[in-house]
Amino acid sequence: MNKKEQLISEAKSAMEYSYSPYSHFRVGAAIRTEDGTIFTGTNIENASYSLTVCAERVAIFNALSKGHRSFTDLAIATSSGLPTPPCGPCRQVLYEFNPEMRIQLQGADEREEGFRLKDLLPHAFVSKQDYIKS
Ligand code: THU
Repeated sequence: MNKKEQLISEAKSAMEYSYSPYSHFRVGAAIRTEDGTIFTGTNIENASYSLTVCAERVAIFNALSKGHRSFTDLAIATSSGLPTPPCGPCRQVLYEFNPEMRIQLQGADEREEGFRLKDLLPHAFVSKQDYIKS
């Protein structure tokens, strides 16, 4: 299994713990840090609906809460088996740490090689300091 397949495989395994009794849409995400460590996350829903947290944010928050700050790749798998790009809020959260991050989608065309985060979120919001500098 190559590194790309390994990350997708970890994302698929993470789906097993999805808490999605409302949508029944299971999502798993796996994020790789600069040093090669992989952290996973799954979607966690809530009766309020609006407090649901996506798998991608759970994965990066999991890594961040262990002190990691540099990320190279994120893989996303869903119970539909179809390539599912991350939602807008997740793109913004991920962008904070690496606009160049590679996003791999389960079931995506092999030729596609995934996406670069910066291509999925052009003109992202960045901190006020960055605007002042420019
Ligand atoms: N979901 C994710 O986990 N990631 C996304 O990027 C989009 C949506 C979850 C949230 C909810 O539990 C379910 O998918 C249906 O929207």
